[in-house]
Amino acid sequence: AAATGCSTSTPTSTGQLLPSSIALPRPFTVPLPPMPVLQPTSTTRGRDVFDLVQRPAKLEVLPGVRTDLLTYGGTFPGPLLETRSGRPAVVRHRNALDVPVSVHLHGGHTPSTSDGYPTDLVHPGESRNYAYPMRQRAAMLWYHDHRMDFTGEHVYRGLLGVHLVRDDEEDALPLPRGDREVVLAIVDRSFDEHGQFHYPSSSAGEHARHHADSLGVDDAHIEGVLGDVMLVNGAPWPALEVDAARYRLRLLNGCSSRRLDLVLDPPPPAGAMFTQVGSDGGLLTTPIAHEHLVMAQAERFDVLADFSKYPVGTHVTLRNRFGSGPMGAVMRFVVARRAGDDSAPADRLPDRLSEIEPLDTTGARVREWSFTRGEVHGRSGWVINGEPFDPEVMAATVPLGKTEIWRFRTDLHHPVHVHLDPFQVIGRGTSRSPGPFDHGWKDTVDVRPAEHVDVAVRFTDYTGRYLIHCHNLEHEDRMMMAAFATG
Ligand code: C2O
Ligand code: CU
Repeated sequence: AAATGCSTSTPTSTGQLLPSSIALPRPFTVPLPPMPVLQPTSTTRGRDVFDLVQRPAKLEVLPGVRTDLLTYGGTFPGPLLETRSGRPAVVRHRNALDVPVSVHLHGGHTPSTSDGYPTDLVHPGESRNYAYPMRQRAAMLWYHDHRMDFTGEHVYRGLLGVHLVRDDEEDALPLPRGDREVVLAIVDRSFDEHGQFHYPSSSAGEHARHHADSLGVDDAHIEGVLGDVMLVNGAPWPALEVDAARYRLRLLNGCSSRRLDLVLDPPPPAGAMFTQVGSDGGLLTTPIAHEHLVMAQAERFDVLADFSKYPVGTHVTLRNRFGSGPMGAVMRFVVARRAGDDSAPADRLPDRLSEIEPLDTTGARVREWSFTRGEVHGRSGWVINGEPFDPEVMAATVPLGKTEIWRFRTDLHHPVHVHLDPFQVIGRGTSRSPGPFDHGWKDTVDVRPAEHVDVAVRFTDYTGRYLIHCHNLEHEDRMMMAAFATG
């Protein structure tokens, strides 16, 4: 039954563990699949046009097992898109699935009409051109489904992919590139005895047949859904052979409900474990050394890992200290060979990677957003400022160009995400400064239990309706979302 297994969730994640009931591969035996890259269909008239067909596919996620997925273009995750800052891109989505969809470019500075509003649906058989002006700096974005009530299920079943924005500033830095820049999209999933994704949803689970009125997530999984298989770029606990050289890891926590605390095991014998150069919204002003990385759902970290510090032959496991048993491991790097390196060592990166203008909050209006459990249409759910999401109601109207302080308050862990423009964390908890993982431009912030986090935000360029929501996708589907209008 879909809605049972529950007792072994980790203390650091909300969510209930779904146990797989199929034989799983031994960790670190499957090679990390290269991210498929989507080439533009056309690059004329100053813009890049991409075509993506959303379609069902049967793919080998576990070796020798065929799993039904909802896909962007037939792969899981969807293909990597790369675009240039300042150069508009259009992604033409065709929906060849049998469910309505809505595409959101997470971290995109996107006009409202292309932002993937949860009720702005592309129905089966329809196409839609999503226009991305790309008036934003280089950053790691990701795209995923955003259909109302079904985001968690659709993303779980495969509708997610990574989108890298490039620019000249980043190109000019001595960062590892080519094969030494590795995109790692981390998600957790579970499989049923037929090798199918095991999502406890009303539309796919047994629950559905008995509860026609259900939202996307059934009652037992209101906290969230934790899988018991860690997938990186769609492969279970994969391994990647690396040169004994510096690598740039572009990390995405794409899990629905699982937070990660990443370390390298063994740690490098010298130097920092990770040198962070960027966050959700692109480059930091200066590199930051970390001995671990806490990543809430939907956050991205851009870090350097220096495998030249390890002897050839070392197996370096990327571990998740928030996970127990098999979920305590993510993937493995096998230091395979000596090799030359023309990227700069972490301690010789320029001190100024980029400039970030601190938003001036003098006299700024403070707006509170409180994320709590609450009643949603007579059932238990999640609310913001006491209200469940209503796509027709604007919880705020925010003037373009004016900096505001947004204060996020929570009962439990909620990764809070804001559309349209990134923000700057100015205070967390009792400390009136950002936490160690809050630096740079952020679009998602890990708000911890009974904490308040203040961010400075300023919206620019586009008027229309946008969203603020929890990125625990089961919370989002249980209405922890609010719309605001810019104008
Ligand atoms: Cu990643 Cu509104 O979403
Ligand atoms: Cu939440």
